[in-house]
Amino acid sequence: MAKSAAIDKTILAGVKEKIQRGLLPQWAFTDDEIYQAEVEQIFAKTWNFLGHESEIEQPGDYVTRWIVNDPVLLLRDENCQIQAYLNSCTHRGTKLCTADFGQKKAFTCPYHGWTFNLAGDLIGIVAGNRVYGEEMDRSRWSLRKIPKVSSYCGMIFGSLNEHAEPLEDFLGDMKWYFDIMLGRSDAGMEVRGVPQKWIINTNWKISADNFGGDPYHTAMSHRSTVELGISPKDPMYASYGHQVVLDNGHGINMCTAAKAGADVPPYQGLPSEMWPMFKRNLSAEQLDVFEKTMIMVGNCFPNLSFVSPMHGTGGPDEPLTSFVNFRVWRPVGPMKIEVTSWFMVDKEAPESFKQASYLSYIGSFGPAGTLEQDDAEIWTRVAETTRGTMAQDKDVHYNNALNYLMGLDRVEPDLTWPGPGTAYPTCYLDAISRAFYEHWVDSLLKEADVPTGVL
Ligand code: FES
Ligand SMILES: [Fe+2]
Repeated sequence: MAKSAAIDKTILAGVKEKIQRGLLPQWAFTDDEIYQAEVEQIFAKTWNFLGHESEIEQPGDYVTRWIVNDPVLLLRDENCQIQAYLNSCTHRGTKLCTADFGQKKAFTCPYHGWTFNLAGDLIGIVAGNRVYGEEMDRSRWSLRKIPKVSSYCGMIFGSLNEHAEPLEDFLGDMKWYFDIMLGRSDAGMEVRGVPQKWIINTNWKISADNFGGDPYHTAMSHRSTVELGISPKDPMYASYGHQVVLDNGHGINMCTAAKAGADVPPYQGLPSEMWPMFKRNLSAEQLDVFEKTMIMVGNCFPNLSFVSPMHGTGGPDEPLTSFVNFRVWRPVGPMKIEVTSWFMVDKEAPESFKQASYLSYIGSFGPAGTLEQDDAEIWTRVAETTRGTMAQDKDVHYNNALNYLMGLDRVEPDLTWPGPGTAYPTCYLDAISRAFYEHWVDSLLKEADVPTGVL
């Protein structure tokens, strides 16, 4: 694999030093060289979320996804095993499967008609023997596999790096929190409907930083929810709970909203008949945390964010209902992301709850949801301010650093927190953002460690 585009390590070392002091140079969001280095040194090396096992339950079920610029065909093969291939024909390279999802026994290329089975074998060539001869070694032209594929709690990840650490090591302490969100029910979660996709003119770090470490924005950006009576009036309401800094750049906010007078039902209002199941699948500590939590929101480095809040379903007297939403911020340039958003709900939840949960998602964080619109508009403006001469000035003496100082040296960890990670007793804090950017800059500073591939 080629080494990254030239990027001045001295400048990066200066960025790291600033991040540790709670400062982030504005140009770093959308700088072109930084972007190229991110593609090569972060996304090509780490684990990337591809989809959920419930999306491809039967042999032949498939979905198509992207790892930044690499198209991926993710499917369930004849043996019910999950396979991920580069979605590019081995003949002339065109995209093999053009649909977002479906069910097939084999994939026929739309260019010259080569056909591949679910195992990736080349099983059909138009006029095969007459044009290539009987001696052609077809196994040489199988679909190319994504080097590593692995799952946790039904979440399928892929890596373009055959030397990537095991997925469970990469997730680290995030697993404890994934268990609460995704592993609490016997049969796990299901993705309902097809994940929705939309484009935002922003940089992937801006959205990941927002979900990962910025509950502070809710009182202002999402003020309409306060005016509608959905959120409490107390401007501190989104601060109540714990912000938990995890290893590998991950982070989660476990918000309670309780001090704001919000009536928080146990287990995010999930039906009481499901509670014995939660007790079976979670540890006493996980159960204790889950019982008190109203909103879980965070980011799994680099660009898999999630939110599991409680929100209205449209009716004035309906109770707030929770949902689980995961989204990937796929970079498609330094100034553009493609969002893919999955709605998830416990497979064993009653159908009436599933429907209410879906309405709650659609009205808040679906593509036309009120909170989603608030965020997308702001993130676009953050990105557009970064391209000017002043914001792009890399002179270390120039004051172009943004403020990530909240809580730095002021808030001490809560040592009584029962879960893993470094937990602080407030969610109005930039601790996760600082850890996210420190992990990000460390990844860029690291020398490429993937050996040059052979053809
Ligand atoms: S490019 Fe696929 S068959 Fe030619
Ligand atoms: Fe938001």
